[in-house]
Amino acid sequence: VPVRIFPDSELASAQVARELADFIRERAAAGRMAVLGLATGSSPTRVYEELVRLHQQEGLSFQNVVSFNLDEYYPMAPDSLQSYVRFMHEYLFDHVDIRPENIHIPDGTVLPEQVADYCRDYEAQIVAAGGIDWQLLGIGRTGHIGFNEPGSGAGSRTRLITLDHITRTDAASDFYGEENVPRRALTMGVGTILEARHVVLLAWGEGKAAVVKRLVEGEPTDTVPATYLQHHPAVQVVLDEAAAAELS
Ligand code: F6R
Repeated sequence: VPVRIFPDSELASAQVARELADFIRERAAAGRMAVLGLATGSSPTRVYEELVRLHQQEGLSFQNVVSFNLDEYYPMAPDSLQSYVRFMHEYLFDHVDIRPENIHIPDGTVLPEQVADYCRDYEAQIVAAGGIDWQLLGIGRTGHIGFNEPGSGAGSRTRLITLDHITRTDAASDFYGEENVPRRALTMGVGTILEARHVVLLAWGEGKAAVVKRLVEGEPTDTVPATYLQHHPAVQVVLDEAAAAELS
């Protein structure tokens, strides 16, 4: 897997944001939409801040952007503090000119009996948009991408999953205690993610160094779903020095 190591996450995020902005502008110049797959969590926040700055100060428009978020807790009300709907609006959507109808985030309020149809429809909307051009990812300490926890298959699609214990521990502070973290989530599948034409995975800090080593140097295995990215033809792993510390 191609790896790019930056002195710190701020420089790395600014570079990723510039490359994403160039892609959005190229598409706009060609009169085409840019279909982005977006992640939440701490890893992409500085990329979103830089995209907002590029919009406000350098005229970057999101009028031609269609977005699909990776995942959402289940169940989850969109107006909850911890919802990924709220997260995306706070960090990006409320500050740029993306058209509301072009935003897609898995709906944590869908009824249990409608989840299967809902997930099929989410996949169909990605296909109808022309597929994801540019997928931004983080990586969990379990090796998850999206919320595809260990055991997820390479061909898995958008579905309801059970969160790993480690993932719920890592989310505990956001929910004021692990007992409040939802046990399940909706997530795009590994197969959905692998179909994106270009994938950029961000990882910062020493807490990610061990899983980054497994991603970059380990055998592909469903116990570390991120290793499936090793087969992707256009993936980049973007690291700060701390996250790269265990690479040989
Ligand atoms: C979030 C997502 C997750 C996170 C991962 C890392 O939409 O899909 O896979 O990217 O859990 O989270 P942070 O960036 O908070 O370390």
